[in-house]
Amino acid sequence: MPYRLKPCNIVIIGASGDLTRRKLIPALFSLYCNDLLPDQIAIIGFARSDLDDLKFRDTIVRYLTCRYELEQSKCHEKMNEFLNKCFYVCGNYNSIDSFIELKDRIREIGFSEENTLFYMAVPPSIFIESANSIHHTFTKGNKLQNPWSRIVIEKPFGRDSESSKKLINSLSEISDEEQIYRIDHYLGKEVIQNVMILRFANLIFEPLWNNRFIDSISISWTEKIGCEGRAGYFDNYGIIRDVMQNHLLQIVALVGMEKPENFSAECICDKKVELLKSVNSIDLDNITVGQYANSTINGKNEPGYLEDPDVPDDSLTETYAKATLAINNDRWKGVPFYLTAGKAMSTSMTEIRISFKKISNPIFNSHGEINSNSLVIRVQPNEAIELNIINKLPGLDQQLEEAKLNLHYASAFQQIVPDAYERLILDVLRGDRNLFIRAEELEASWNIVTPVLNRLEQEKIKPEFYAFGSSGPI
Ligand code: BG6
Repeated sequence: MPYRLKPCNIVIIGASGDLTRRKLIPALFSLYCNDLLPDQIAIIGFARSDLDDLKFRDTIVRYLTCRYELEQSKCHEKMNEFLNKCFYVCGNYNSIDSFIELKDRIREIGFSEENTLFYMAVPPSIFIESANSIHHTFTKGNKLQNPWSRIVIEKPFGRDSESSKKLINSLSEISDEEQIYRIDHYLGKEVIQNVMILRFANLIFEPLWNNRFIDSISISWTEKIGCEGRAGYFDNYGIIRDVMQNHLLQIVALVGMEKPENFSAECICDKKVELLKSVNSIDLDNITVGQYANSTINGKNEPGYLEDPDVPDDSLTETYAKATLAINNDRWKGVPFYLTAGKAMSTSMTEIRISFKKISNPIFNSHGEINSNSLVIRVQPNEAIELNIINKLPGLDQQLEEAKLNLHYASAFQQIVPDAYERLILDVLRGDRNLFIRAEELEASWNIVTPVLNRLEQEKIKPEFYAFGSSGPI
């Protein structure tokens, strides 16, 4: 019996922005097509741009695609139904009057007494003022329960330990921690959700998941595109803040944590925090930083980071970082975790590679060295889990070769892999907090990167140049 949600409103603060169009609306539409949203739902965009309902619908309609198998005519029908549930209110984020207008509009639409999700698709400076306005108009005296109000916020959650703490404190004056859903969209990715299942629902991996058997763990995130169109934001953050502090450290936490007592958000969070607290903070001698420079690919000139009109000529912002983490606990002592994040690289790929130790006492004669086993968890593209084993090559002599035990999602499963936002939005509506970041996790992960961020900034460390489309600094 599918879980039916109660009627609710979804208010998107910052509805005229890129995140709304590219991620939120398509995810909501997919959920709608799958009958996972309640019939009585209103999606209300709120932003400063001067739009009305019809103009708002016009801005989002081309982002609606039927990902799931639906006949063309059915798809159009669904689109029209969905658009009729989308509304728009123009207002200022710090204006109580604008939020009163929003509240009146919701009442007019017809679900005023129902549950409301506020999605902050705006930068942190604006989400505090918006949350304040929401607090004064909507949630006052009605913090959580029935009807509920939940606030979703997107990273960046600060620039370092101190600013993150300030954000956490300002938000806690307005909302309870239980009302806040901090999104790291990597946690909504199918393969990332599978990491805990792989580790704790299979007997075969966990006994090997430690420094006796594992040599190193590499977690890599690379993207072929540069910072075009986002350089204004990116230059104030850099890749360590943009990807490493959140997506990659969340993966480290899931790969490295101890087994939680149960699958509740609290137990999972406790184990993640425990792991993150045992990671040594990164310093200059265990990181390399780079910045992409222009290059010519297939006859096309790809401009370097510094050529972007939104980037100052002398910017020292890193677009690539490779760090080695040491985890100071019994399970992981001596096992390096290599983290790589880079933009404008040769491939777009996210992968976790667990490299096992070499067999200590080989009994087979082989030409050359026998590789060790590795388990590769490919998050994207082409989701897969591959176990590299050593195998006898069929034939009359004894030749050993590496072979793969593969689980390729596209061929193994008929189901479409949902977009991370579909899963995360649905979880917020259900009140399931497992895949969201709690304040303690944020604090622990900022503590890992803040020392090196401070040194990079204070000592004005120049990143090494690497060619656009390459595999990073040499
Ligand atoms: C975002 C970063 O969090 O993740 C972007 O801000 C990055 O810089 C993006 O491009 C990558 O997400 P995905 O899901 O495309 O790997």
